[in-house]
This record gives sequence, C-alpha cells and structure tokens, in this order.
Amino acid sequence: MERKPQIIVLVGLMGSGKSRIGKELSRLLKMPFADADAEIEHAAGYSIAEIFERFGEPEFRRGEREVMQRLLAGAPRVLASGGGAFIQPDIRAMIKESAISIWLKASLETLVERTGRTSHRPLLRVADPAARLRQLMDERYPVYAEADITVTTDGQSPRDTAARIRAELERMQERK
Ligand code: S3P
Repeated sequence: MERKPQIIVLVGLMGSGKSRIGKELSRLLKMPFADADAEIEHAAGYSIAEIFERFGEPEFRRGEREVMQRLLAGAPRVLASGGGAFIQPDIRAMIKESAISIWLKASLETLVERTGRTSHRPLLRVADPAARLRQLMDERYPVYAEADITVTTDGQSPRDTAARIRAELERMQERK
C-alpha cells in the first residue's frame, strides 16, 4: 500500500542512531532528511557544545523548541530530533499532533559504545558517561515509550533498522 507522506520523527537517546538511521530511512522512503541539532547549530551560528557553554542548557532548549516547531510545520520529511526534544512536554505534544514518532531503543552497552567514539555531546562531558547514560535511560525511557513505533537498534546496521521501520510504517498504514 502507498504510504501517505508525513513527517517522521526519530526519537531516542544520544547514540541510538537517529541521524544515521534517519538518513537511510529518508533514502528508502524517498523523502528529504533534516537533523534538528544541525538546524539549531545553523540558526545559532554555534555548535551545540558552544551553545551550552556560552548560553546554558535552558537557552539551548528554547532554540530546540523553536527549530522543532518550524520543522514540524513544514513539508513531509524524516527528522532526526535531539535526544532531549521528545522529553520536553510541549515539543512532544507538537510531535504527537503533526508527525509519526519512532523510538530507536538501544541498550546501555550500545549507547556507551556509540557515544564513546566522539566527544561533542555536552551532557556526556562528565567523569562517568556510562552512569549518566544509565540515569538518562531511567528518566527518559518511559517517555520515549509514548512514541507511535518502537524499534530496537542493538547489533543492527542502520540500513536494516531503516528497512524494519519502513515495514512498521506500512503495517501502521494498513491498520488505518
Ligand atoms: C541532547 C542530545 C543531543 C543534543 C544535545 C542534548 C539530549 O542530540 O541535542 O546535546 O538532551 O539528549 P543527539 O541525541 O543527537 O546526540
């Protein structure tokens, strides 16, 4: 069945694969791709780390809300959100109103491994990043669970995960 184009938002913790899987999914669905963090950096003229350093997290969250609002009001696309976006109640409400949400669920082991490759994430610039991720899992997983679709990403290539998401979207469309 032909899927009606809609905005598809990927949610999940840092390292869950939102950007990489999002790019694969956009190719599969032949829809444009956008990365909310990159859009925030572009709008601000600073990297995410610089925004946290210079202006603080509340200011980053304000910019994130503005950018998400703009993207969610726009054309159908695959949108990789920042890990905290779906946790903000007003952004979550906007996503539920105007998009299909996909939670990329991953184990702590996977998240530690994937986020350990880079150092650009301000929330993980702490003595024990694994403990921080564990804490964020406890706080956020019950909220991410409100997404329309959940897929686990452990041990899978972005391409395979994207194919599973497409199958889930088709199933969802058939149920309508
Ligand atoms: C954040 C996740 C980051 C980025 C910012 C805050 C979070 O995005 O938006 O550092 O609160 O989880 P990624 O999930 O794309 O790393």
